[in-house]
Amino acid sequence: MIIAVDGPTASGKGTIAKALAAHFGLPHLDTGLLYRAVGRQVFLDGGDPDDAGDALAACAFPAGLFADPHLRDEATGGLASRVSIHPVVRTALFDRQRIFATQPGGAVLDGRDIGTVIAPEADVKFFITASVEARAERRFREMRDRGSDSTLEEIAENLRRRDERDSQRAVAPLVPAADALVIDTSALGREEAISAAIKAVEISRPSS
Ligand code: DC
Repeated sequence: MIIAVDGPTASGKGTIAKALAAHFGLPHLDTGLLYRAVGRQVFLDGGDPDDAGDALAACAFPAGLFADPHLRDEATGGLASRVSIHPVVRTALFDRQRIFATQPGGAVLDGRDIGTVIAPEADVKFFITASVEARAERRFREMRDRGSDSTLEEIAENLRRRDERDSQRAVAPLVPAADALVIDTSALGREEAISAAIKAVEISRPSS
């Protein structure tokens, strides 16, 4: 069983994907981390994230980069969003994601284009969304707990910019697959969102 979990930043898609993977005993891949690793590597190389050649070169990042403490920073998310525009970058990262998705026994992947590009044949597709206000508030609390002093306004502005770039890009933009189940988590608690997703999988998964 392949489960695709797409949606914008801080929508709760990562939390839901992890919980689904644990519940159904499936391996999980956060595909945003691949784009974050490329963005971070461009920065470490002193390259330009808006240059396709620099971004492509950074796709050869070492596996050790996944332990970089800055991978989950807001700034790295912005760089990831910029490098993810380049079709050469998306192509370079395609095989890794595709191999993970099609492994025997199935998998859960979260990202922006899992249900539309990486695994259009997924058995269950989710599009997790929430208002900018709810997402900014969540990210603000998360960042504060990590010791960041970004303001709520700065975070909301970053989210808007990233949403716009991710949704407007020419290749594999952030859009719900036609057959995606949309869950709006604006007014849902963590546990409510997770149990709604688990129920949806139980109803729609292929009978075995
Ligand atoms: O999910 P995230 O915030 O870690 O993702 C960081 C950026 O990576 C996001 O703004 C766009 C890009 N991304 C993408 O283009 N496709 C994916 N499947 C996952 C992430």
